[in-house]
Amino acid sequence: MATINDNYLKLKAGYLFPEIARRVNTFVEGNPEAKIIKLGIGDVTEPLPEACRTAMIKAVEDMGDRSTFKGYGPEQGYGWLREKIAAQDFQARGCDIDASEIFVSDGAKCDTGNILDIFGKNNKIAVTDPVYPVYVDTNVMAGHTGETNDKGEYNGLVYLPISADNNFIADIPREKVDLIYLCFPNNPTGATATKAYLKAWVDYAKANDSIIFFDAAYEAFITDDSLPHSIYEIEGAKDCAIEFRSFSKNAGFTGTRCAFTVVPKQLTAKASDGSEVELWKLWNRRQSTKFNGVSYVVQRGAEAVYSEAGKAQIKALVDFYLENAQIICDKLTSAGFEVYGGVNAPYIWLKTPHNLSSWDFFDKLLQTTNVVGTPGSGFGAAGEGYFRISAFNSRENVEEAMKRITEQFKA
Ligand code: MLT
Repeated sequence: MATINDNYLKLKAGYLFPEIARRVNTFVEGNPEAKIIKLGIGDVTEPLPEACRTAMIKAVEDMGDRSTFKGYGPEQGYGWLREKIAAQDFQARGCDIDASEIFVSDGAKCDTGNILDIFGKNNKIAVTDPVYPVYVDTNVMAGHTGETNDKGEYNGLVYLPISADNNFIADIPREKVDLIYLCFPNNPTGATATKAYLKAWVDYAKANDSIIFFDAAYEAFITDDSLPHSIYEIEGAKDCAIEFRSFSKNAGFTGTRCAFTVVPKQLTAKASDGSEVELWKLWNRRQSTKFNGVSYVVQRGAEAVYSEAGKAQIKALVDFYLENAQIICDKLTSAGFEVYGGVNAPYIWLKTPHNLSSWDFFDKLLQTTNVVGTPGSGFGAAGEGYFRISAFNSRENVEEAMKRITEQFKA
């Protein structure tokens, strides 16, 4: 009989968001009249920007004419998109990133998992706790961890706790780790990183020959000009960091799928014979073998993000969700909740009232207000007693959800 990858048996029963959906579906079966408002998974609700749609429609027309038809595209993404990303997302901010260092993909979630393909089995890996669960689960699947302890922490990972005590900013570890996942603006806490903080990480990584996986999927939500959008705004980061970006949250591409990963050419790691190998070459090889690129139509839609009209429409979209976040913060604060994040970030992180566990609060909120959020414990043991509310929804739903919550949980 064929055998399985036993590492999958170490995983918790279900991935967080499908588990939430399962619980909500069970509730709805028993309460078919309930008007559920979903502020759980960070999935966008507003239509794709007009500039993107127009570009995609035009691209579909291209596909209908032999002279402009496209078959397989470059696995790394079309040059015209990579050039615009390099120029506008990086060079315009003083980051010396070349188009050839950009790999267009179908998602930052996929890339943060897939990147492990090019790393060895014996790296010491650090994650914050709480953390976006994909970083942990993909390491479990790859066999980089042992089993979980009583708290649900995987043996073999280094957990860097974040809480209100350290402003949800992990202390730089004293021990040496090889790979570190950082996410700013942070999912799930909504915390942001200053340049000084990222510099401390870059200094650490360079001193310890570590690689930082920098997830900047939410960078578009930064409105504070002093905050860095990219880790490459920090000198030396090209020697120690891979950055993940996405069109999902800024341009509403969660269902359309387009993202990119930056692997600087000078970034190296060690082979088992001690030689230094360029990670760019390995990632290029990996993508060329396992990936056939994002569709032409979708890449044309992503390219329109960089047009003048696209930039204005994307700003309006991001501003809209940020206003939702502000409403959520204000209403929950006035109802007596201890609230974090929601500024420069689309996630609001709150302390559960009356010391309820995260899942107990999830159930109570669902049953009494029909509002769905995400239990903090789903992001790690240190998320217990916290809860995440997403600002990705219509204004009407956000206002209605806040009305229901404030009525139910008056200060
Ligand atoms: C989240 O809710 O944490 C995100 O939507 C998940 C994702 O982007 O994959």
